[in-house]
Amino acid sequence: MTYKDQINPNRIPTHVAIIMDGNGRWAKQHGMKRMFGHRQGVQTVHNITTAAAEMGIRYLTLYAFSTENWNRPQEEVDALMALLVETIRQETPTLMENNVRLMTIGDLSRLPETTRQKFMECIEMTSHNTGLNMVLALSYSSRWEITEALRRAVQQAQQGLLTAEQINEDTLSCYLTTAGIPDPDLLIRTSGEYRISNFLLWQLAYSEMYFTDCLWPDFTVEHFYQAIVDYQHRERRFGKTSEQVTE
Ligand code: FPP
Repeated sequence: MTYKDQINPNRIPTHVAIIMDGNGRWAKQHGMKRMFGHRQGVQTVHNITTAAAEMGIRYLTLYAFSTENWNRPQEEVDALMALLVETIRQETPTLMENNVRLMTIGDLSRLPETTRQKFMECIEMTSHNTGLNMVLALSYSSRWEITEALRRAVQQAQQGLLTAEQINEDTLSCYLTTAGIPDPDLLIRTSGEYRISNFLLWQLAYSEMYFTDCLWPDFTVEHFYQAIVDYQHRERRFGKTSEQVTE
């Protein structure tokens, strides 16, 4: 039986987040430059997004470019930015066909103007789509996000719009770049690394974690289904006892 056949349609995660890792190592394994791996990684993004939309997942968040990635060699940063623009240009018709809405989280002000512009166009064009929400984390890191949230909360407090008593988990969540997006049910990280790497630190508090040795360009739709089946066998207790959640 394939993993796809084992998926319980009544327990599809609402939100899956993915740390797509291993493009560079995959390229090296094939005796190629790092960008070859990133290009192959785009094909995986296409396959997994289509599968997620078909399965009825509501949110798919992909860690496409971290705040720390700005520190990579300039040549790789420039090539990644160009690849993002090219991908958005190519993939927008597919997003429309599959009723996918594009969203972004992160500090878009740091993106080159042409890249930012292309994303804004695609976000606008897909804004009425009602299927999967594809959330790209771009120039994103959790510490940046939490620092920004705090800065804005303090500014509002200084203007008399927020009091200390009004700050709770829900109000704080509203200041995050993920405001309005439910927390991930499942986090997948490829390439055999067991780290969170400054990704959604607040939002992953109760997410199930799934780590695989598979490098991102090798991660197939069947691997994705395997992760979903694994998730569906977990017992999510949210700090309660097993008896409390099963009764
Ligand atoms: C991690 O592999 C991957 C990235 C930093 C970039 C991810 C980008 C893509 C998959 C392409 C564009 C994406 C979209 C959404 C259009 P790595 O370079 O850290 O690999 P390594 O750890 O093996 O060196």
